[in-house]
Amino acid sequence: MTNIHRAASAKIPDFPVGRPESCPFDPDEIYTRLRAEEPMTLVHCPAGMDAWLISRYEDMRHMLADRSLSSRAAGSDHMLPSYDGHEPLPGFMIQLDGQEHARLRRLLIGEFTVRKMEALRPCVQKITDEHIDAMLAGAGADLVRDFALPISSKVICEMLGVPYKDHEMFQLDSQVLMSFEADEVSRGAATRRLEAYLGELVRQRIAEPQDDLLSRLIARSNDTDRPLEVGELATLSVLLLVTGHETTANMITLGMLMLLENPGKLAELRADPDLIGTAVEELLRYLSVIQFGLLRYATQDVTIGGIEVKAGEWLVAAVPSGNRDESVFPSSDTLDLGRQVRTNLAFGFGAHVCIGQHLARIELQVALSTLLRRIPELRLAEPLAQSEFKRNDIVYGLQSMRVTW
Ligand code: HEM
Repeated sequence: MTNIHRAASAKIPDFPVGRPESCPFDPDEIYTRLRAEEPMTLVHCPAGMDAWLISRYEDMRHMLADRSLSSRAAGSDHMLPSYDGHEPLPGFMIQLDGQEHARLRRLLIGEFTVRKMEALRPCVQKITDEHIDAMLAGAGADLVRDFALPISSKVICEMLGVPYKDHEMFQLDSQVLMSFEADEVSRGAATRRLEAYLGELVRQRIAEPQDDLLSRLIARSNDTDRPLEVGELATLSVLLLVTGHETTANMITLGMLMLLENPGKLAELRADPDLIGTAVEELLRYLSVIQFGLLRYATQDVTIGGIEVKAGEWLVAAVPSGNRDESVFPSSDTLDLGRQVRTNLAFGFGAHVCIGQHLARIELQVALSTLLRRIPELRLAEPLAQSEFKRNDIVYGLQSMRVTW
């Protein structure tokens, strides 16, 4: 596997992932300069490879739309990319290309339409209200543990047909898979535990179908020329379960924190609850929780951002930077809850664009607007400076968020 060393003498800097100490909501300050002066530059990624860092919005769309760039080479025996040469697990859609990817995406896409997700809104509302009732029975809560994480987990469990009673196991393992601090052994063990757990569930649904996504997926796949194997179904379910709760939960709490820290914006949203649709889009853009970048591998020479990227080289799209590109989003560093957005890149772009984006939007809209309406006095129980952020996870967010009212 090629490792890039175009400028052999210069040390390649690390992928800039930090958020400035002064503001936990902004991307690393270096991106403003990179977008202006060095929109394609080599960095060393936490997953081990050197890659062309893309910082401009248009270059990112170009990269993510280019079908000759592969997600596959990022495959390994765990969820995180590495270049140890392993093939991705069959069924691990996010790392598959071309027909292999399209086969899985086709089987799933009908489950995630805007109409189907809208039909889930009452269920999301009910789960949200139950958690707010429970919180209101006390004087304070941890918004991660008592609100965001259980809501997003229950919704994806309900959809897939996974028993929520097992949430501790899958939440812990998901956190291991999302962290760059976890070692290979722990990540491998977490993947195997989740695979075994969901593999068992798949076997149960094959024997006895229920009214859930997993059973419908099995039935739909059985109607094709090449039905999914148990292993593929288990891996696909792991992907949906992990991505289906972690990302949204992080976005709910970070979004709420952003609003609490900006009382003017909070008041604006309270005064006009209909703003929630654009407000969620804007929070997704502004906060860009996918912070370690979207990786692709060049299978042939390709020109992006004026640079000829050679076959065998890697590219990484820094979503937090693309979403602050001032040539696309005027006053990009200002949170504008009514912004008529041009599609931002929070959910990616192209063939792998997030399949759960409509679900995530609904969860965010319901969770944030219900919190504002039902707990008008909601405030942080400790100063922002004491908050602990997930600085070394693929998805940025808070470890915990103590609130009171
Ligand atoms: C705020 C919440 C979310 C964010 C920011 C987010 C972000 C993303 C991004 C950036 C990608 C593209 C990855 C790439 O191009 O390599 C992606 C893909 C994906 N997301 Fe999400 N996501 C969110 C919520 C969800 C939810 C709720 C689900 C599941 C139900 C989900 C399931 C997936 C899957 C399965 C893929 C892979 C799609 C494919 O390979 O075709 N995501 N997500």
